[in-house]
Amino acid sequence: MNVPILHPEEPQGNRLRDNLGRLEPKTQRTYTPSLAVLARSSGVFHWTPDGRRLYDFTSGVLVANLGHNPTTWFKRFQDYLGWSGAALQDQGPFFEAVPLTSYNAATPIEIEASRRLIECLQNRPGGKRLEQVLWAASGSEAVQKALWAALARDRSRDIILATRYGFHGKKGLAGATTGCETDPERDPRVRFISFPREECCDVSRRQEPFNPLPYRLELEALREQLGRRLNVLITEPYLGGGGSYHPHPAYLQMLQDFCREHDIVFVLDEVQSNFGRTGRMFAFESYGIEPDVVLLGKGLANGVPGAAAIGPARLFDSLDFGEGSDTYSGNALVCAAVLATLDCFEDGSVLENCRRVSPLIEAGLIELKRFPFVKYVRGEPGGMVWGVEFGDFRDRTASQWANDFVLACYRGNGSTGVHLLGPLAKKVVRIAPPLVITVEQANQALRIMSRAAESLMQR
Ligand SMILES: Cc1ncc(COP(=O)(O)O)c(C=O)c1O
Repeated sequence: MNVPILHPEEPQGNRLRDNLGRLEPKTQRTYTPSLAVLARSSGVFHWTPDGRRLYDFTSGVLVANLGHNPTTWFKRFQDYLGWSGAALQDQGPFFEAVPLTSYNAATPIEIEASRRLIECLQNRPGGKRLEQVLWAASGSEAVQKALWAALARDRSRDIILATRYGFHGKKGLAGATTGCETDPERDPRVRFISFPREECCDVSRRQEPFNPLPYRLELEALREQLGRRLNVLITEPYLGGGGSYHPHPAYLQMLQDFCREHDIVFVLDEVQSNFGRTGRMFAFESYGIEPDVVLLGKGLANGVPGAAAIGPARLFDSLDFGEGSDTYSGNALVCAAVLATLDCFEDGSVLENCRRVSPLIEAGLIELKRFPFVKYVRGEPGGMVWGVEFGDFRDRTASQWANDFVLACYRGNGSTGVHLLGPLAKKVVRIAPPLVITVEQANQALRIMSRAAESLMQR
């Protein structure tokens, strides 16, 4: 059984954590020193069962880009599903609305969501190869389906290239392309390539010139060794789960050039970055690239579980009936949520707000570097995602400082705190509030974080 994490100001929350420890295995969650129990949410806030208010600096896990329970979004979501008031006022045991199934059938709402998504992608610079939507039930499934399609186009070309220390999920080929080559059981079809982490280890290095040549030579060497077996390359625009490393655009452009020259499918995993995280709707716009396939998830439906691989019709045609199907993909629930989310992004004000508040949060995070245990700050210029890397200091490791910081932020001043996830790569705290955060909310949350860091210094 789990040893529950308890908090002095949360008697009700502690009771629930105690039950949780008995009812669910610990593997259900990734470790976080706070183990937040969240009773209600609205906008950038969560409330615990004890009534404590938390600034959500995680957006779920980069999911609620529009904030939690946005009213306009919810009304649209209901309308798309046919769940609006009139339908529910029917007195009978059932009411007529969109069916919550898409297996071996299609709903008009699914077709409309596919159309709108493709239109949205193709209208942006870099989106013109994106012709069809292959729905998936989670980000890792979208990865899996895109890689299946690439491998199926020519079975003699079996090698998948993946950027080292990336994160694409835990299951199947998503797990196989995550991390690095340390696991001897790893799928032998996956070869890892270097990602320029050192060159982008801190925001202060953003303006430095970047030389992609060594990375290109590494690819050439693989090509020399494996020839036409190289089939597909998967990368993230920035390493998210691997510790928030945001590369120079020339790196991704070089990967794309190499793929084009050798007929390698270039897959950009935007499960984390899509729907505004980089300050643009999609990260491929920020990085000046034109992927063959983009993978969408998380913010795609603002919290309703769903994902998709979007790519060329010719590529997806290599999978036959059923090879890319499953029970939940393309379900009307997620399609309604995608349509509602697209509606809410349409007038550009969410992205505008993101770009306006971004420099303020970045400046506040850079200020944290005055504490000797805060080593680096990395992030996306104009975006709403950063990693704050902790270092060893005094007798404590980087990982201990990072975990202590998350806990101190969570507890905040008692009545109000800042909700963060457990550190990435053991020592990087991710900062990713909803894109709709206001200047005032950002300032207040930064003050809580700064005081939390001060309290750690004074121990
Ligand atoms: C870039 C990226 N790809 C894929 C995934 C996996 O998504 P899911 O957890 O929905 O399977 C994640 C999850 O964090 C991610 O960040």
